[in-house]
Amino acid sequence: MANPASLTSHQVRLAARPVGLPTPANWQFTEEPVAEPEDGGIVVKTLALSLDPAMRGWMNEGKSYIPPVGIGEVMRAGGVGRVVASRHSGFAVGDTVAGSLGVQTFARFGGADLKRAGLNKIDLQLGTVTQWLNVLGMPGMTAYFGLKDVGLPQAGETLVVSGAAGAVGQTVGQLGKILGMRVVGIAGGAAKCAWVVKELGFDACIDYKGGAVKDGLKEHCPQGVDVYFDNVGGDILDTVLTRINRKARIVICGAISQYNATEAVKGPKNYLSLLVNRARMEGMVVFDYADRYPQAIAELAGYLKDGRMTSREDVVRGGVDAFPDTLLKLFSGENFGKLVLQLADE
Ligand SMILES: NC(=O)c1ccc[n+]([C@@H]2O[C@H](COP(=O)([O-])OP(=O)(O)OC[C@H]3O[C@@H](n4cnc5c(N)ncnc54)[C@H](OP(=O)(O)O)[C@@H]3O)[C@@H](O)[C@H]2O)c1
Repeated sequence: MANPASLTSHQVRLAARPVGLPTPANWQFTEEPVAEPEDGGIVVKTLALSLDPAMRGWMNEGKSYIPPVGIGEVMRAGGVGRVVASRHSGFAVGDTVAGSLGVQTFARFGGADLKRAGLNKIDLQLGTVTQWLNVLGMPGMTAYFGLKDVGLPQAGETLVVSGAAGAVGQTVGQLGKILGMRVVGIAGGAAKCAWVVKELGFDACIDYKGGAVKDGLKEHCPQGVDVYFDNVGGDILDTVLTRINRKARIVICGAISQYNATEAVKGPKNYLSLLVNRARMEGMVVFDYADRYPQAIAELAGYLKDGRMTSREDVVRGGVDAFPDTLLKLFSGENFGKLVLQLADE
């Protein structure tokens, strides 16, 4: 067992709540010695952190599906780490674990914290550290349950997914193809669109930065849209609403175009299309499916292994001090694939 007392944890804490895009004033950098684990607890060294659009929401005051990060608290973040000290019979030094580690180089958990942090041992035979933050992690679970349980996909139907080159979007589209759907992505820029079609096997991808989403939908979804997996909200949601079929299902997974809004969130103007088409729009939160993650992980790991699915992670290497700038990549679209901050080598 490493001697935790000789270790220092470097942390990023929430210093103030942002208005609009986060700025350096929203963050505070701290360091503290790592104490020995209590009886039933463990200490984990962070290897890699998942950077998620949801982090922006967790910085806000107010009621949500999860309490906000408190001022002065370590910023919440999912991650993969290695157990460096253990007084828990279920975890040994050297085990690789995934869960809510926070933006810090070492995380110390008491026995009661382990469940709250959703900490589980992971098998690196099934996927790499970064794949465990992508297809086999929270974004993959979101894609799997959002599409299957809320989107209710049928072979032969047309699926449209926005944020198509991102973490959730890449897995949604590939699953749609495996299920026999026609799959059309929406993403920002020619490079992302080319990758989505050539490498992921989508039938088409519309570059929304080119501005022609409506024309693209007409061209690439000649039979209309049966399932829309929405990661972005705003104008793109409104445009897709004009092309849906009778009994269409719209999965409200996220609305990244609205997360930094300083004015009221832009709601869909075209919602009466739901009425005309007897369609429905339903929100989903991945954590509701936690009991079924093992089933989804087994299936998705199988697709990675047999080559039916591929994954792309955008890995930034740096210390926790790189966190604030790296997070902003999500909102400028600079990330290409699942955004990961790698703090340490395996
Ligand atoms: N409901 C849940 O349980 C759950 C769980 C996980 C994630 N989510 C949501 O799923 C969505 C995708 O998350 P992710 O982790 O997969 O992120 P991601 O797609 O890997 O990264 C974010 C992407 O959003 C796009 N984007 C940024 N600003 C935009 C704008 N104004 N309009 C359109 N696109 C914009 C950018 O791609 P382009 O270059 O293509 O613009 C950027 O790369 C987010 O809304 C997130 O909150 C929900």
